[in-house]
Amino acid sequence: MEWQNLLEPVKALAREAGELMTKAGEVTIHVKGEQDFVTETDLAVNDLLVEQLTEIFPEGKIFTEESDDHTLSKTGYTWILDPIDGTSNYIFDLQLSCVSIGLLYQQESILGVVYNPYTKEMFYATKGGGAFLNGEKITVNPVETVKDSIILCETNPYGDRTTSETQAAITRVFQHCIDYRVLGSAALDICYIACGRGTAFMSEGISPWDYAAGEVILKEAGGKSTRWDNSPLTYQGMQSYLASNIRVHDEMLSYL
Ligand code: IPD
Repeated sequence: MEWQNLLEPVKALAREAGELMTKAGEVTIHVKGEQDFVTETDLAVNDLLVEQLTEIFPEGKIFTEESDDHTLSKTGYTWILDPIDGTSNYIFDLQLSCVSIGLLYQQESILGVVYNPYTKEMFYATKGGGAFLNGEKITVNPVETVKDSIILCETNPYGDRTTSETQAAITRVFQHCIDYRVLGSAALDICYIACGRGTAFMSEGISPWDYAAGEVILKEAGGKSTRWDNSPLTYQGMQSYLASNIRVHDEMLSYL
């Protein structure tokens, strides 16, 4: 199958995965690290995605949060999966979690599907094909300054909290914006910038599976992303991340 024809099957798969999330009942939780959890549902969704994507598009290698091997191939097609982004939200039934499925080609995001089964919001894009939310085209908002912005943040909960720059950076940004929000799902944060609900999203450290699907959605919606030092993302390991509507990008960088 040509990769351009993968969108509909991947959207259907994300919906099926979402059903697994919302119908799971009481969830069994395992501890992965400090403040880092995985539930039996993450693992069940992971199995479903890996099995189906391998069948739909065998050319794609699989790179998933729920695996011990996090070496990303620099060539060919790779699926990058976060079976449940916002696992802590999921455990506490905050209903701000999603299935995130991205396809990279030569380390560029070319297809992304992010689905929140609680709101039934499906964000998706293909490179060159535009970005959509439930069938409607989406674009970033036209806000020109941080002063007129709501900024979305994440806290890098798995990093070393004694050396974390996050709170200081949020405090600096807070001096300049309308207000900030911490949703607990980086993949949703990026999609919210893509559809104009926030003007920029910042995290001191997120992983490729958190942003891979969102990257193509953001770019097709007219947005931009870099690391905090303005260098491009590489999909190699955890990195700082700033997504924006482009217009406030440089101003945000000056506070980070
Ligand atoms: C996490 C969420 C969280 C972000 C973390 C991510 P997970 O993903 O996106 O908002 O702050 O950096 O790892 O672990 O729930 O899939």
